[in-house]
Amino acid sequence: MRIDIITIFPEIFAPLNVSIVKRAVEKRTVEIKVWNLRDFTKDKHKKVDDTPYGGGKGMVLKCEPIFAAVEHIKQYNKKGKVILTTPQGYLFNQGMAKRLSGEEGLIIICGHYEGVDERVSSIVDYEISIGDYVLTGGELPAMVIIDCVVRLLPGVLPKEAPVFDSFSQHLLDWPSYTKPAVFREMKVPEVLLSGNHKEIAHWRKEQAEKRTKERRPEIYKRYLKNQEKNNE
Ligand SMILES: C[S@@+](CC[C@H](N)C(=O)[O-])C[C@H]1O[C@@H](n2cnc3c(N)ncnc32)[C@H](O)[C@@H]1O
Repeated sequence: MRIDIITIFPEIFAPLNVSIVKRAVEKRTVEIKVWNLRDFTKDKHKKVDDTPYGGGKGMVLKCEPIFAAVEHIKQYNKKGKVILTTPQGYLFNQGMAKRLSGEEGLIIICGHYEGVDERVSSIVDYEISIGDYVLTGGELPAMVIIDCVVRLLPGVLPKEAPVFDSFSQHLLDWPSYTKPAVFREMKVPEVLLSGNHKEIAHWRKEQAEKRTKERRPEIYKRYLKNQEKNNE
């Protein structure tokens, strides 16, 4: 997969150079390129924003450099789906990450200030929000999307790892423990020390169901529906 990022703050993307994403880049499973939106301006001040029509607060990212950047990048990332990060977008989730991981490429536009000129939507495939809150720019959302998508690419994680992650089976993950078995009088549940794999699997499922029911009832409802479907 090839991922291109369009931003006015390329220096923010250093966190992509560690851990799993870094290893995926080294293995050439994914190629990531960060583009500075200012390099697609034509004036000597490299102006990327302007005041909003109709008046009001803040600045809006202009459409000309964004169109120029996307058109340029499409020469290299021909089938890349264009994503606009925006709080007004469709809510990002694990299902969306899974779908995007099947694409050949992604081109992610990071907004800033009051957002981007609405006409940019005409060249966008997905408008994505990472949650119901407003961040300063689209750089953190882009990194969230990239991290989630890259760990789902074939060969990036051990085969079974993402299968039991939260959300993959309409359940949150079960509680995990590691050594020591007792820490400040808090004991690891007996069953996990038993070596009985059947009982461990049963306990984990029960815990995942309990946690999901308490913390995310809307996901738990979907889980029950899915169970019903599977039992038909
Ligand atoms: C300050 S925000 C603009 C908010 C915009 N005025 C609104 O209320 O919808 C600037 C940029 O940050 C990014 N952004 C902020 N919050 C986001 C979120 N929850 N999901 C995705 N992108 C977000 C977008 O790229 C947005 O254009």
